[in-house]
Amino acid sequence: MKKTILSGSTVTGDLTLGNYIGAINNWTKLQDEYDCLYFLADLHALTVQQDPKVLKERTYSFLAQYVALGLDPQKNIIFAQSHVHQHTELSWILTCLTPMGNLNRMTQFKEKSEKHSKNINAGLFTYPTLMAADILLYQADKVPVGEDQKQHIELCRDLVTYFSNRYGEGILKMPEPFIAKMGARIMSLQDPSKKMSKSDENEKNFIAVIEDAKKIEKKIKSATTDSDTVIKYDLQNKPGLANLLTIYSVLSGKSYETLEKDYEGKMYGHLKVDLANLVVETLAPVKAKYDDLMKNRDYLDQLFKIGADKASQRAQVTLDKVYTAVGLVPRQ
Ligand code: TYM
Repeated sequence: MKKTILSGSTVTGDLTLGNYIGAINNWTKLQDEYDCLYFLADLHALTVQQDPKVLKERTYSFLAQYVALGLDPQKNIIFAQSHVHQHTELSWILTCLTPMGNLNRMTQFKEKSEKHSKNINAGLFTYPTLMAADILLYQADKVPVGEDQKQHIELCRDLVTYFSNRYGEGILKMPEPFIAKMGARIMSLQDPSKKMSKSDENEKNFIAVIEDAKKIEKKIKSATTDSDTVIKYDLQNKPGLANLLTIYSVLSGKSYETLEKDYEGKMYGHLKVDLANLVVETLAPVKAKYDDLMKNRDYLDQLFKIGADKASQRAQVTLDKVYTAVGLVPRQ
């Protein structure tokens, strides 16, 4: 029996190099060995105010981005969260088990409520319980994510313990976070003290995976570094350069040491030019495939249907067990 993997991305902005390096690049590596489900978290997107037309368009765009980045719809179950109603149903059961104090501790809630101070809605607060439902519905063994999602997965693990203590063991499986050693936190290009985020207002801070080559080059060339000249991985003193070296290392497969040797006696400018070429080379086929997929809406709709059918079937098995365990009368 293959182990089950589940992960997803919230449908906001466009997927960035951070999402790719921290998460999706790893998802694609797991698709042969594991039973994988990858979804588009469109319901999570509603915790921030969305233009309905843009959200709809973006959900198609994200599906095309997932596939263009290498997620094979034959090997993985790829689906939209809102197409599988069981997510919100399990989320409610879990919400009723979640102490307010646990949610209060979530750093992402604190950050997001500062950023969206005029729209601090209850959904933003209970977001992690929906995320727990996403994971637990499929009895996922591992959840491949970037560093920033670790706290949410810890909360999910706490919820499994609370649920098992109250309703019995073995109904919900305890998931493990799966965080890569390299690239789990790609930083903003202009401000390397904060993470690269797809919802950043300043588009110089991130590179979208479907970005034009010219823009990619420009953004990497203007990335913040320090005034020193030695190319050396030093996270403490050279965070901007360290970030570029991490991107370079993950995309090229070369270690920091090899890169340091390659660039001995060279300037930051040399490194930036080479890195820009590498990123452009990596993303050019993604953009081409993406453009193709976006022309074929019927195919994308077909993928949505196949994914939703498969995911719903699996989700219902868990939801039935949970409903029975908590004492809800089965529907006749
Ligand atoms: P989201 O959409 O913010 O990000 C998707 C994935 O990309 C990772 N990531 C990063 N990795 C490295 N460096 C970065 N700068 C960077 N930015 C983002 C994230 O850690 C994530 O793995 N709440 C989730 C979506 C979600 C989910 C789930 C994930 C909803 N339900 C269940 C796993 C399981 C989110 O907003 O990810």
